[in-house]
Amino acid sequence: MEDPSRDTIIGIDLGTTNSCAAVAGEEGTVRLIPYKGGDFIIPSIFAIDDKGHELIGHEAKRQWQLNPRNTLYATKRLIGRSPMDDVVESVQRSVQYRVHAGARNDVELDCQGRSFQVSEVASRILGKIRDVASDHLGFRVERAVVTVPAYFTDRQRQAVKEAGRLVGLEVVRVLNEPTAAALAYGLGKHLKEQVLVYDLGGGTFDVSIIDIRDRVFEVKATGGDIFLGGIDFDNAMIAYVLADFRRRHGVDLATDPVAMQRVKDLAERTKVDLSSRDAVPFSIPFITMTPQGQPLSIDMRFDRATLEQLTEPLIDRTLEILVRVLSDAGLKPEEIDRVMLVGGQTRMPAIQERLTAFFGRPPSKGVHPDEAVAIGAALYGWSLSAGGDRQLQLLDVIPMAIGIEQAGGETHVVFGRNASIPNARAIEATSSHDGQTELVLRMVQGDHPEAARNEVLGEFTFGGVRPCPAGEVRLEVIFDVNVEGILSLHVRDRDTGREMKSTVRITRS
Ligand SMILES: Nc1ncnc2c1ncn2[C@@H]1O[C@H](COP(=O)(O)OP(=O)(O)OP(=O)(O)O)[C@@H](O)[C@H]1O
Ligand SMILES: [Mg+2]
Repeated sequence: MEDPSRDTIIGIDLGTTNSCAAVAGEEGTVRLIPYKGGDFIIPSIFAIDDKGHELIGHEAKRQWQLNPRNTLYATKRLIGRSPMDDVVESVQRSVQYRVHAGARNDVELDCQGRSFQVSEVASRILGKIRDVASDHLGFRVERAVVTVPAYFTDRQRQAVKEAGRLVGLEVVRVLNEPTAAALAYGLGKHLKEQVLVYDLGGGTFDVSIIDIRDRVFEVKATGGDIFLGGIDFDNAMIAYVLADFRRRHGVDLATDPVAMQRVKDLAERTKVDLSSRDAVPFSIPFITMTPQGQPLSIDMRFDRATLEQLTEPLIDRTLEILVRVLSDAGLKPEEIDRVMLVGGQTRMPAIQERLTAFFGRPPSKGVHPDEAVAIGAALYGWSLSAGGDRQLQLLDVIPMAIGIEQAGGETHVVFGRNASIPNARAIEATSSHDGQTELVLRMVQGDHPEAARNEVLGEFTFGGVRPCPAGEVRLEVIFDVNVEGILSLHVRDRDTGREMKSTVRITRS
């Protein structure tokens, strides 16, 4: 018998707050991989306790309140980011651990006196999931399909692959989360449907329109915001509670990490409760002390209407993105056959009501909002692990344009937003000064005409250009975006046919 470990490709949903894994059996029937006690979810949290022990998942979550400075969570928001990015500062304001610039123009996180790259943290979580899956399956899992938000850039996708490499897990493919959900819903059902996936998780929002024709899954358009998720709903509540406390007692809880952690925990639980109840108490006894040593408590009630009012701007943003994606796809709301909800935050009734009002009918309950992404990833892994009739055809798109920074600072678009992938384009280039031997291309991703306002993907340097007078050498630059949305390029001398492939990719901004 063949060694199953070599064939098996599991599916991993690496979430901002929760991760989940699944595996498909021989016939393509998928099961979720259980962790201790039958729980299918592993919190995406990494911590080090005061004895120096590394804790991952539930173990890390359990000690979170008492060790907030050394508990790293929601790190997916920082993966593949440059430290100059504005988002880094806004993350720092909402977490209790320290975020700082790393040596490799990346972001590093402090934990118990040590510094970790964000992909190292992701690799610890992936490693834990791999170990849990290996224990469950009885062989060592070595390959996985890992899902990412559709709105992730090339650089963020690379960082996820790197995280797998660090822990010896081959990330065979990165797959877009909404696309995975569509696979979980539609594979094997012989459908002909236009589906819109509205995915609002803990950290990110994605919306994709996917045309399903039996085994062909074609993404028509996608959009999103990688800084819009359940955490922002929690933060809106936290800000409200802190302001109320300040008004009553003149004390700012934001400066006390342990108090903040308690508020954060209760805010999230309250938000979840308010999806099924109209009002709930919000009380935390002895949260802090007055300068005179008198204990103070939080003692309030939260109702659903207040939560809805506080978070309305967030829901508005998701609708704005949705409208743009519909227009990018050239579709009207009534042309969508099914609206599918993915991600824990979509359990909020106000979200379902807004979508019902927009589409004139309620969203479908076609998939499990927490499990669909992992299931779709496992199905994709299964289709890749063997050929033949298992084949499914996936046609995805890139979420933002990819282009070159031109001498004047503007973006020359090579692949437009929602360009289908896999995809390749070629452009002509030449030397700009006599005897030039190197061609340098600075690639960016984003929809802004000004290159500096977009995300830098890297600077590619091609050595070995044939020295000629300026403008004489005829070069062809070939850009390739693979099925995962990852860019590679190579350059060819049109006269000699010689390929200059040795790319040096320096990512800096
Ligand atoms: N019943 C509920 N009502 C409202 N929000 C909920 C409910 N259940 C879970 N959530 C929220 O859903 C979010 C987690 O969703 P999910 O597990 O889908 O995210 P994730 O996969 O970790 O994140 P992402 O996909 O953004 O990377 C949390 O913010 C959580 O508070
Ligand atoms: Mg998710």
